[in-house]
Amino acid sequence: MIKTVLFPVAGQGTRLLPATKSIPKELLPIYDTPAIQFGINEAIEAGAERLVFITHPEKDSILKYLAHDIDAIETLRRKGKTALADTLDATGVPAGVEVALVLQTERLGLGHAIMLGANHVLDGPVGVILPDDVILGASCLSEMAQGYSGGHMIAAMEVPEDEVSKYGVFDPMGERMGRMQRSSGIVEKPSPEEAPSRLAAVGRYILDPSIFRVLKKIPKGAGGEYQLTDAIAQSAEVVGLTAYHFTGTRYDTGNHEGLLQAAQERRRLLQD
Ligand code: G1P
Repeated sequence: MIKTVLFPVAGQGTRLLPATKSIPKELLPIYDTPAIQFGINEAIEAGAERLVFITHPEKDSILKYLAHDIDAIETLRRKGKTALADTLDATGVPAGVEVALVLQTERLGLGHAIMLGANHVLDGPVGVILPDDVILGASCLSEMAQGYSGGHMIAAMEVPEDEVSKYGVFDPMGERMGRMQRSSGIVEKPSPEEAPSRLAAVGRYILDPSIFRVLKKIPKGAGGEYQLTDAIAQSAEVVGLTAYHFTGTRYDTGNHEGLLQAAQERRRLLQD
């Protein structure tokens, strides 16, 4: 049902400097496996037919990780801005699953990155995986896809009050039904005083394709960037928004502590 999954991977990884001067955060190993591969595996498990990576031209090694064919990388470079490469053979991606690359030359935010994917999606709802949110345990996107019945759905977890300002935060509406919580809106990185709840968005989304039209019109938001959260909030009233309480454990591998904890859990899971 989720034919396309978008992977925004153009970020600079400033919290992991100096390693990320030359190694994209998405390729740092979680014990034995690059972080990005966990996201790829999740997309495949959820039945994706096409994986679209939105990346920055400086992040050569992501292109190398995904592509065996160096000529294809050169073609992409020559085409420049936001070009879609020919379907490439990919590392860790089974035959029959397409890999497409889009270049985000300006870092204007997650909303901008997702908008660049618009021309490359297959029909139906669109998955988004932020691969530095590594989720171990049950495959998050698959369980979301099973519960999905339309509109926008985002993975969700409760966070302490002093951490709400790091996340998109849901405005829940009515009773929680099993793992699903209907929400009337979502706010990007609110202060604890402004936050509508402590239910935070995690980097897994299933989006109604109407999101692309909304993304074209939103103004810059938190941090002076085009925020995906703002577009979702705007269209929540029209298509509906569900927060999904996932079963796995999420690690923010964009910082040192999360990277270490994810590696320890990965090692434990391999030894079980
Ligand atoms: C992004 C989203 C935010 C979400 C978070 C999850 O923020 O904008 O809504 O809660 O991912 O990791 P970022 O961490 O890229 O600043």
